[in-house]
Amino acid sequence: MVVGEVRVASLVPPAPVDSLTMTLTAPTTSATISPATSPATSTFPASPRIFSGIQPSGAPHVGNDLGAIRNYVALQDSYEAIYCIVDYHALTSTHDPAVLRERTREMATALLALGLDPDRCTVFVQSHRPETTELAWLFTTVTPVAWLQRTPTYKEKRQSQPEDVNHGLLTYPVLQAADIVLYKASLVPVGKDQAAHLELSREIVRAFNGRYGETFPEPKAVFTDAPVVLGTDGVRKMSKSMGNTIEIFAEPDVIRRQVMGMVTDTQRILRADPGRPEVCNVCQLHRFFGDDYAEIWEGEQTARTGCVDTKKLLVQRILDHYAEPRERYRELMADPGRVDRILEEGAERVRPIARATMDEVHAKMGLR
Ligand code: AMP
Ligand code: TRP
Repeated sequence: MVVGEVRVASLVPPAPVDSLTMTLTAPTTSATISPATSPATSTFPASPRIFSGIQPSGAPHVGNDLGAIRNYVALQDSYEAIYCIVDYHALTSTHDPAVLRERTREMATALLALGLDPDRCTVFVQSHRPETTELAWLFTTVTPVAWLQRTPTYKEKRQSQPEDVNHGLLTYPVLQAADIVLYKASLVPVGKDQAAHLELSREIVRAFNGRYGETFPEPKAVFTDAPVVLGTDGVRKMSKSMGNTIEIFAEPDVIRRQVMGMVTDTQRILRADPGRPEVCNVCQLHRFFGDDYAEIWEGEQTARTGCVDTKKLLVQRILDHYAEPRERYRELMADPGRVDRILEEGAERVRPIARATMDEVHAKMGLR
């Protein structure tokens, strides 16, 4: 995946981060959220359904929240929303059963702490609704191998885990397409790093509909106003696997260390040197944690402020911003039975939708 290509270089202060800002980056692949028209086919839900998945591959970070989770939270009030912790996907890189189980619960707890409300949306674990794997197999039969081989994440993973280029890495996007349309969802809140996966989901759906008749809606990405968030190295995408994250629920000291260690403008050597806020990731992150981004930009550009000041301010703002979710996270982690119940109920709640889709697919494909 090309990282850093969507670095923000705007002087314009952003819209308030809590607002539901959906960007229309490409008409075919992303959606503006407006009153829905229901598709003509009666097998589609009457109003658009939301689905997204997140891997339980480690501690949730600021990139996850800015890129995706804050939209999960916002969308649960306007749509029927289904959110899934994708443990099958995580198996392509995480092979320790105890670790996977623990991370799955942690990710569920994190999503609840950040504002997903089981009374307003459904949260469940992918492997608790195994119909998705059957649909993924059926989808492999309409998916040319070449589409999968040219997926950016597959090429990346071949590099980053050359000792473990398992078949799941190749088929990953097929399972993702199945996740989404098993529930006939058509809107998918994800970070911009997922644009290629979403495009592939659409192609797979088109291939299926083309062969077996109109069955699934083509899913569209819903983006926040955040770019692909860069990591503390200031160069690569913030990602658990790169070890360049700012963790949302880590102890304050860890967050302080992560932020204070961020790489800023490498050409700004002396405190008195003017900075380049457009390439300084600390400044870019301020955009999402306060309403004085323009001032911070100006301070850095004119050397009125130094990198250390700007970082200290960012630490404080991140800690303040996530103070309440951190409290809820602690409470929920102390009550794992409650989280497990929410997840079990979630998987039960979506069972009828999954069964109905599979019945329709079986009939259309000549399986039953
Ligand atoms: P993952 O942790 O890869 O399962 O990602 C979960 C969600 O967070 C997905 O919607 C991603 O697109 C989003 N996401 C992950 N990393 C970033 C990032 N660095 N910037 C923006 N969004 C991200
Ligand atoms: N590939 C996504 C990621 O790495 C996770 C994912 C799996 C997903 N299935 C999904 C996202 C369905 C959206 C919809 O972040």
